[in-house]
Amino acid sequence: MMVERKPVTQLVDSHCHLDLSHFDDDRDDVVARAEAAGVKTIVTIGIDLPHSAAAIALAERYPQVYATVGVHPNDCQDFGPTALVEIRRMSEHPKVVAIGEIGLDYYWDRTSPDRQKEVFQQQLDLAAELGLPVIIHNREAHEDVRAQLRTWVTKGSLPGSSLSQRPFAGVLHSFSGDLSMAEEAYEWGFILGLAGPATFKNARQLHALVPHLRPDRLMVETDAPYLTPHPYRGKRNEPARVRLVAEKLAELWDIPFTEIERLTTTTAQTFYGIVA
Ligand code: NI
Repeated sequence: MMVERKPVTQLVDSHCHLDLSHFDDDRDDVVARAEAAGVKTIVTIGIDLPHSAAAIALAERYPQVYATVGVHPNDCQDFGPTALVEIRRMSEHPKVVAIGEIGLDYYWDRTSPDRQKEVFQQQLDLAAELGLPVIIHNREAHEDVRAQLRTWVTKGSLPGSSLSQRPFAGVLHSFSGDLSMAEEAYEWGFILGLAGPATFKNARQLHALVPHLRPDRLMVETDAPYLTPHPYRGKRNEPARVRLVAEKLAELWDIPFTEIERLTTTTAQTFYGIVA
């Protein structure tokens, strides 16, 4: 008997901030529009303790939403021992799938680089202990992020470390590095995330880089409400628009959209340990 197969339409928005107030007026509609656009899974990312708790609350409310918990470098001024205890406690929730976003941000100078590195390290070590992958934020801090991750991965790949048992150790979210950084990340067992900037008309460097990246080591993301893809720049972003990122990648790699969909969705499900 022949079974008629519909083409699979399933994308994962691997990184957004669905709990932010930008969505307070129409969050149900935003989630419904994502579903209608074939975005079957949404991962909403914590940036500090209250927002991590809010991300978990959304994961409890919507079956297709998963959460991550962590403190972003721009929000780490008050990070103390109780913050680590709280992140550890929240990470026990069954829908918490990673630690993040964590990292270094030298664009905003609200917190000193040394303090950022300290907070980053504590959360990296916690993730390794918990056996959870990390979501890395890096803005204008390429060399320091690389140095810190390199040491962490070397330590974590020792036999017996829970980190070495994961398919992927982390993701460089909204990747902005060069090919050498991407290749080193692959060696670490990291993957890359690409967002709206890949669709920007003037993103020549990124457009030149993408064909050299591995399509099987990539997740698509929106970072909504930020980084809105072309042609909606200037408007609020939302998870449904992750499709525009995937379409641009299909064009840059010159492979069918369904193949991008299959690869990025499989990678995201493996990365986060989400069963389809
Ligand atoms: Ni983000």
